Amino acid sequence: MDLPGKKSVTVVPAGGALGADIIGVDLSRPLDDGAFKAVEAAWHRHLVLRFRGQRLDDPGLLAFARRFGALDKAPVHAVNDTDHDPYPEITVMSNIKVDGKPIGNLGHYEAEWHTDMSYNETTPIGSLLYSLEVPPEGGDTGFSNMYRALETLPADLKRAIVGRSCKHDSSRNSAGELRKGYTDVTDPRDAPGAVHPIIRTHPATRRNALFLGRRRNACIVGLPMDESEDLLNRLWAHAGKPEFAWYQKWKVGDLIMWDNRCAMHRRDAFDPASRRLMHRTQIKGDKPFFDPSTLAA
Ligand code: SIN
Repeated sequence: MDLPGKKSVTVVPAGGALGADIIGVDLSRPLDDGAFKAVEAAWHRHLVLRFRGQRLDDPGLLAFARRFGALDKAPVHAVNDTDHDPYPEITVMSNIKVDGKPIGNLGHYEAEWHTDMSYNETTPIGSLLYSLEVPPEGGDTGFSNMYRALETLPADLKRAIVGRSCKHDSSRNSAGELRKGYTDVTDPRDAPGAVHPIIRTHPATRRNALFLGRRRNACIVGLPMDESEDLLNRLWAHAGKPEFAWYQKWKVGDLIMWDNRCAMHRRDAFDPASRRLMHRTQIKGDKPFFDPSTLAA
């Protein structure tokens, strides 16, 4: 039997490869179990959810995120690595400067396709990004469906990655900036970071997704560098196809949550003279894994 709150949640798919709007939910108030279950089911189905017109303060954002599990602390940044006191689980994404000092990370730059914190041994299952200020143009965030990328991978490429793992570099962020405390990498095999399977099984849906994480300084374990580069270039050319993607054009009060286990994301650059301010938090995860029994299904 359906829990009562489920009926208050309307799911409107974006109509492309992924993404859906959730309507009828005020995230500043606690969700009852029925509404929460409906949101969680929609997240597993659509990978990226958008809640428009929200009014959230930091405790409200964290309280909603915590319904999905414990939260990760903000990653190590390039420019601004001070905790967002008193909320170390919040990452401030912004190009705004106060007294000449950036208040957040990633500036106004393009951020390349990536999966949040994929360079850690355990990676966040999802991230939530809430918009407080948006530029009039640019700064759109793209999401890409990595289930679909794997399902449509040519057979030779799929054979080439079954059982293979990839190194995910932690030295630079998605805008290419060196993180504080790291030195430059000259050989990707020496990059700091974690090794994860390239085919990743989602623990909740049991579906497999292509898990590339980030291109810069990546390498496939056990292959000579030239073969690793060639295979990674072919995988990224496939994964970056526009038919797997959907783009979010931000309005103030939008909350987007995405599933890092099966979706990648990127961000367009924007005019440095305009202001953009977002608060992000990330839900702790476990070690990415591949369950070979899922291939037989
Ligand atoms: C991110 O990579 O989490 C930032 C995305 C954005 O600023 O739109």
